[in-house]
Amino acid sequence: MIQFVFVQSLESKTTSETSFDSLRPLAWNEANQGVTLIDQRLLPYELKQVEVKSHTEMADAISEMVLRGAPLIGIAAAYGMALAAKAGADLCQARKLLLSTRPTAVNLAWALEQIDAVLQGCDLDSPETIYQKILTKAHWILEDDIERCKRMSEHGAKYIREKFGNKKFKIMTICNAGALATGGYGTALGLIRELAKNDLVEMVYACETRPRQQGSRLTAWELAYEQIPVTLISDNMVSHTMKEQAIDFVITGADRIAANGDTANKIGTYALAIQAQYHQVPFFVAAPESTFDRSLETGDLIPIEERSSKEVSHINDKLITAESGVEFYNPGFDVTPNILIERIFTELAT
Ligand code: MRU
Repeated sequence: MIQFVFVQSLESKTTSETSFDSLRPLAWNEANQGVTLIDQRLLPYELKQVEVKSHTEMADAISEMVLRGAPLIGIAAAYGMALAAKAGADLCQARKLLLSTRPTAVNLAWALEQIDAVLQGCDLDSPETIYQKILTKAHWILEDDIERCKRMSEHGAKYIREKFGNKKFKIMTICNAGALATGGYGTALGLIRELAKNDLVEMVYACETRPRQQGSRLTAWELAYEQIPVTLISDNMVSHTMKEQAIDFVITGADRIAANGDTANKIGTYALAIQAQYHQVPFFVAAPESTFDRSLETGDLIPIEERSSKEVSHINDKLITAESGVEFYNPGFDVTPNILIERIFTELAT
């Protein structure tokens, strides 16, 4: 059972505090030897943290979406392995459990492979040494993600400024690819934050992102918290907004990118890319190298997570359709073909 620990203030930063130090959705708690997570299911109503003390709790936290976002899922799984080692649990079983939690986000497998590499040749080490080695690697994965996101954001913002010039941009995004989805900087929102530092953001249009509403609950909240101008739209307002508001570009995150550049991201991204092409709005993706799965030739091979029908049939625990006679379909992700993507920004300079 995951324990709630304490509540932080929901106040946004004051102007003088706006140093662009973003939210940290996950932190190691040395005193408790556990992991503190922002419970993202409660946002935007409460900014509450929960403490996770075992790998099974971490697996629950990932699958129940206490935390979410491909890079953060990978970081959390690495800490899950550290907690398993600390408890002397079977590490193969722990790995299997953690890997099964979210099938589309390949950063999960990537992070577990980083832990596998640490365990190579560890057969004669004491359990305490193995625990410390995994924990050190988990800390590295967390800090490394923040650094990658910063580099990616700088490269992306530089490209955008060179392409469009130094103007105030109208940007559209979907889901949440921000600090809350990563170690604490963000991919798509990291790039937006980088532009905002130079006062180059006129408005970010955040798509609501049904069914789990990461756009309204997380992105709009995160940008308001960071004092970056944000307008929330529902998902069916995309075409009209592109046409009427002269959107400069769309930027999204990614959960898995195939060798040919086909990109899996939150359901609705594919429709957004098609609408962007029709309106001649450049469509960009920002993702760290850990999101690439070059073992898959095309996006057709990316496994798509299907989630509970309740996410579609209910809003705020209330049924939104007939009690019987209606079926539901709830793919969590879709794949945007590479031809619709102008560029993918990574931490590597291009
Ligand atoms: O189901 P979620 O909320 O985990 O989906 C998240 C997304 O689709 C993000 O856009 C993606 O993980 C990139 S996060 C930097």
